[in-house]
Amino acid sequence: MGILRVLSTSALAIGVAQALVTKDGKTGRLPAMGFNSWNAFKCDISEEVFLTAAEEIVRLGLKDAGYEYVNIDDCWADLDLWRDNSTGRIVPDYKKFPDGINGTAAKVHEIGLKIGIYSDAGEKTCAGYPGSLYHEEIDAATFSDWGIDYLKYDNCYVPDNWTDTYYWEAPYSDAPADWDWSATNTAERYYRMRDALAKVDRVINYGLCDWGQALVETWGNATGQSWRLTGDIGLYWNMLMPIVSFTSYKLEYGNFFGHNDMDMLEVGNGNLTEAETRAHFGLWAAMKSPLLIGTPLDLIGEIDLAVLKNWEFIQFNQDPVFGESVKLFKWGNGQDRGWKWNETMPAEYYAGPSVRGIHVFILNVLDTTQLKSFDFSEVPGLDPKKKYKVHDMWTHKDLPGTYSKKFSIKIESHDLAGLLFTEVKKGKRSLFDGWF
Ligand code: GAL
Repeated sequence: MGILRVLSTSALAIGVAQALVTKDGKTGRLPAMGFNSWNAFKCDISEEVFLTAAEEIVRLGLKDAGYEYVNIDDCWADLDLWRDNSTGRIVPDYKKFPDGINGTAAKVHEIGLKIGIYSDAGEKTCAGYPGSLYHEEIDAATFSDWGIDYLKYDNCYVPDNWTDTYYWEAPYSDAPADWDWSATNTAERYYRMRDALAKVDRVINYGLCDWGQALVETWGNATGQSWRLTGDIGLYWNMLMPIVSFTSYKLEYGNFFGHNDMDMLEVGNGNLTEAETRAHFGLWAAMKSPLLIGTPLDLIGEIDLAVLKNWEFIQFNQDPVFGESVKLFKWGNGQDRGWKWNETMPAEYYAGPSVRGIHVFILNVLDTTQLKSFDFSEVPGLDPKKKYKVHDMWTHKDLPGTYSKKFSIKIESHDLAGLLFTEVKKGKRSLFDGWF
């Protein structure tokens, strides 16, 4: 093994591949929104979990807010029967899904939502159930026949003859800097399922889950509609920050039809403070990750629900005109000149446009309340010579007065400010501007 190479901004010099537009020209254009069973239920799943999630998504107004997929994760197949001897199809666990996956799919569709399933680009799934390597075509056809709308495709149990020459697990690699990761065995295993899905008569959103291996963002765009960048999310703040750190280096890879996937949300799962919950959801939305709820929705509390339903963050994530994610414009936390990789202290200042104006998101990674400031000249799209109205995306209220040149705000520990800047046009100013 050569010397490990730490991800640097030079990795960004590698081109962003053309996005794979789905057959209907619509599916996967924007980050997927929905529910996934893994974070809360692991292998303890049954049809009931998904029907409850579907009903709650409608009842709680989450469908109206944009959530549409109900995704089954690992452990849905029958561990003993594995594949049907004559058809080669994976046999679902009928104890968990008495009417089969197609039965559950029909019920979820009846409720007015879409359904997703999970498989693996190896011999087995991560929990040891049948994988799809060498069975891509029959599995894609089966999922299509069942009425599946979304496939999450994992990366466990890869046989020795399918491993790569070089190793890359974000942010480390032993490969030469110009190594073409799109020609690796890992990429090939994901292309095989992409090609199988292309042959079926159904649009299936294809989510790659190789945890950032083989520099997936450089070929994920030509392969599926999203790609996981890291290993699994966890319940604690210090397990969220590395995901934000990795993603902050890779923001330019995401756009319409191709999204950096920061993993399923932990909102509602217990260990995050209110501020941390806001920062978690807000950053996932601002960085244009898929937003997949990972908590039992029949038990969710009002505060968490309000965060998941925040229409301003959802609208930014789902903007119909601006596909790109926010961009990092200043590091913060005392490291502004360094721009150095720091796993638990990611950059704090991000900005990007939406159809409503210019949004600025500021994170406080420190353990105490901080006053955060930036100059308008630092933010792409803000003109230091113009005046702006500033709107708080959490409280849904405008801040008093107008602002120019510079902006400062106090942010609680581990919180995220979400601010919308709209220009105050000359001649349209109210007499009272700046008075309140
Ligand atoms: C992991 C994956 C998780 C979950 C799990 C199931 O590899 O990252 O999100 O799908 O497998 O076994």
